[in-house]
Amino acid sequence: MDDVKIDLEKYRELPPTFLQNLSGDKMLTFDILDQNGEVVFRSGEAIQVDAIQKSIAAGSKFFIPRAVEPTTGRYDYEIIPVETMKGIAAETAKTYGAIRSSGVMSYEQYVASHEQFAAIVQGLRQEDKNGGLLSLMREIENFDYYTYVHSVNVGVLAMILMYKLGYNKDEVRTLSTAGYLHDIGKLRVPKDIIEKPGRLSKSEFEAMMDHTRDGFRILDAIVAPGGQKAVPSIIKLTALFHHRKFRNRGYPYRSFRDKKSEQFYLEIPEEVRLISICDMFDAITTSTPYRKGVSHEEGLQFILNLSNYHFTTNDVYRFLKPMIHTLNKGKNILAEGDFIMVESTARSTDDSAKKQLVYEFARVMKLYKGRSLEPHIRIFYDISKKKKIHPIEVDLRHDHYRRIVRILKSDRMLDMMRTVYS
Ligand SMILES: [Fe+2]
Ligand SMILES: [Fe+2]
Repeated sequence: MDDVKIDLEKYRELPPTFLQNLSGDKMLTFDILDQNGEVVFRSGEAIQVDAIQKSIAAGSKFFIPRAVEPTTGRYDYEIIPVETMKGIAAETAKTYGAIRSSGVMSYEQYVASHEQFAAIVQGLRQEDKNGGLLSLMREIENFDYYTYVHSVNVGVLAMILMYKLGYNKDEVRTLSTAGYLHDIGKLRVPKDIIEKPGRLSKSEFEAMMDHTRDGFRILDAIVAPGGQKAVPSIIKLTALFHHRKFRNRGYPYRSFRDKKSEQFYLEIPEEVRLISICDMFDAITTSTPYRKGVSHEEGLQFILNLSNYHFTTNDVYRFLKPMIHTLNKGKNILAEGDFIMVESTARSTDDSAKKQLVYEFARVMKLYKGRSLEPHIRIFYDISKKKKIHPIEVDLRHDHYRRIVRILKSDRMLDMMRTVYS
């Protein structure tokens, strides 16, 4: 290989067959270089088979960064093969069918579902934290199948998120199972309500809301052979609380005007709140027979725009920071010129410990690679004072008080922004 100019300490060669396995609808979250060190396939692209063939014909060899940990010689950059996910969805279909008719989940069924994810978690590697390929299922055969696909997807999203956030593998196994089983209570909701297109009546909606409490009951009733309860409480709490919202109506146990409900929300374990974000992301990006899912990019923007509303700003950032790159094929969710709203915690001048939130309108001026939510911005409007201000230039990479909480998209808002900005 004397024609190879690339540093083989840092890169290793990939057989073309491996590249072919990566082709199709999967995305690349690392660059693939040729023997001269030129990028052939860029992070964020999906590789097409004919492009691989063309490069081979042109004499290219392929190299990827070496893994941080010594590996067994397997190139495990793909976190979850789609085939594995299809296998889990098929298993889910069987298990959920049985639970729907009996109304209960057996200990064996619970252990089996836990083991499905445990097998994938076991294969996670250091490089999956930094990049890796993430497969989500998008093929929906019928409405019932959507429930299985959604469950598998939320399990996988929770797994990747928690792994990237630094939870250990035991915790990741438990939390991905929590994501997988979050909607298990839907198996006690009449099928015609679950599958009903369009709006639900009040009583139908109440029956639908019961899937959270029923999920808890199903999981709480699972008993191990020794007689003790089998399901960890974090899994049960995910089923119970994944529809609670921070400053917005959610369920269960919430009346709309309850002042204490924000405090209550913050007492829900952080992991449950983060899995709820995974749930929301998958619900809006996966198509059902009645509604077309939005793109990953729009889904991520949608989540950002729920900061300090459905979700807390902290949780939204805990989710987005590690996931944007993986979910949006390496692309940014902001564009230069975008109008945005920025939230900051002002340090109060008096002694009161109460932190005050301040909001400003700004414009994205310059984006930096790998720092999706930290562009250079120009602030031009103080929302609390309701007035235009002398523009302030801020590099969010170095500002630890300000965070983007809305990307302004509606025509009405954009018209207003342009008037004020000009
Ligand atoms: Fe749900
Ligand atoms: Fe869900």
